[in-house]
Amino acid sequence: MTRHLYVHIPFCPKVCPYCSFYKEASDRNKTQDFLDAVLTELDFRQREQPLQPETIFFGGGTPSALSTGQLEYLLTGLRSRLDLSQLAEWTLEMNPATVSLEKATLLRDLGVTRISMGVQSWDEGLLKVLGRVHNARQAERSYEILREAGIGNVNLDLIFAVPTQTRAQWESSLAKTIALQPDHISAYCLTYEEDTSFYERFAKGEFQPDESWDADLFEMTMDRLSAAGYAQYEISNYARPGRECAHNLAYWTARDYLGLGPSAFSTIGLRRWQNVPDTVTYGARIRSGTGAESSVEQLSETTRRAEHLAFSLRTDRGVRRDDIAAWSDEIAGFEAEGFLEARGEHLVLTRRGRLVADAIGGTFV
Ligand SMILES: C[S@@+](CC[C@H](N)C(=O)[O-])C[C@H]1O[C@@H](n2cnc3c(N)ncnc32)[C@H](O)[C@@H]1O
Ligand code: SF4
Repeated sequence: MTRHLYVHIPFCPKVCPYCSFYKEASDRNKTQDFLDAVLTELDFRQREQPLQPETIFFGGGTPSALSTGQLEYLLTGLRSRLDLSQLAEWTLEMNPATVSLEKATLLRDLGVTRISMGVQSWDEGLLKVLGRVHNARQAERSYEILREAGIGNVNLDLIFAVPTQTRAQWESSLAKTIALQPDHISAYCLTYEEDTSFYERFAKGEFQPDESWDADLFEMTMDRLSAAGYAQYEISNYARPGRECAHNLAYWTARDYLGLGPSAFSTIGLRRWQNVPDTVTYGARIRSGTGAESSVEQLSETTRRAEHLAFSLRTDRGVRRDDIAAWSDEIAGFEAEGFLEARGEHLVLTRRGRLVADAIGGTFV
């Protein structure tokens, strides 16, 4: 039984220059076909594999780029097809420029329990550097609207190490976020992703990342958020008690998940596939009944276990020492360096270890 469902909505109000998620600018002409294709894909998947979701995550792209009517069509269609008796969390990602009271109220009424909103920064200048479509005042108003609509669980996304960003700007973005009291905060270090315009500027030498600067801002993030009562339960994710994202925890603990929509990944047992990352082709293939998969991978038990270890290590639960006994020499080295520490039968990253988490996780894959 698959218990975690992801739905990819590939539309955005405007494409940001740093982002490599599969998305395109919203296009009215494509939307209805896309909504029907997602529902048809769900019918098809449910015929081959039982699905009873405990978590649903609508990501993107920007799910809130859909109009209120389109969201109603999609969510109602989903509700009528799914057994939601075990559903504990339903997240939907929003961009502040696409929030309205009518939309947020509809989402709440249709069962969405958690909104994840991309704020990125509270600094007007940095929002421009990031090419965002909204300003800081709009983001704050959108946050208030979510609360007015009765959304009880809200995450705000932030990005640090943005070109030109100063320490003081990041400190004040953290303070502003804390003052709003969201339930959850995701704070990502900017990455230069291939096929983005930020990557081109980085490749030309216009942007020059500095690892020690990134580490300094990351340490400030950990200090400020933990002092404000947010537990760092994963490298980039901080939550008030009981507000960890159950859907992401499912990924990090290697649960099976089904992904619908263009570019979405699914992993069920040892089979992993990705849907074609093109909205028109996706729709055409679903309509013709040929299936939307564009790549399939047969995983080995060893790969799946290694991924599980690498993901778990990024969380505050860490990994059982017994599960990584095969790497005892490397582990002893990491402990001696102060990157890993024992917590009962588990090994968890120390504060120093979180700064080099990718390198440590890479040992197991
Ligand atoms: C799908 S978007 C969230 C919702 C909505 N599309 C928005 O941007 O407001 C997921 C998040 O990934 C983060 N992100 C995207 N590209 C990134 C990059 N290159 N480096 C760091 N974080 C990035 C941003 O914080 C963004 O909010
Ligand atoms: S950050 Fe969000 S709004 Fe910007 S392009 Fe990526 S998915 Fe779209």
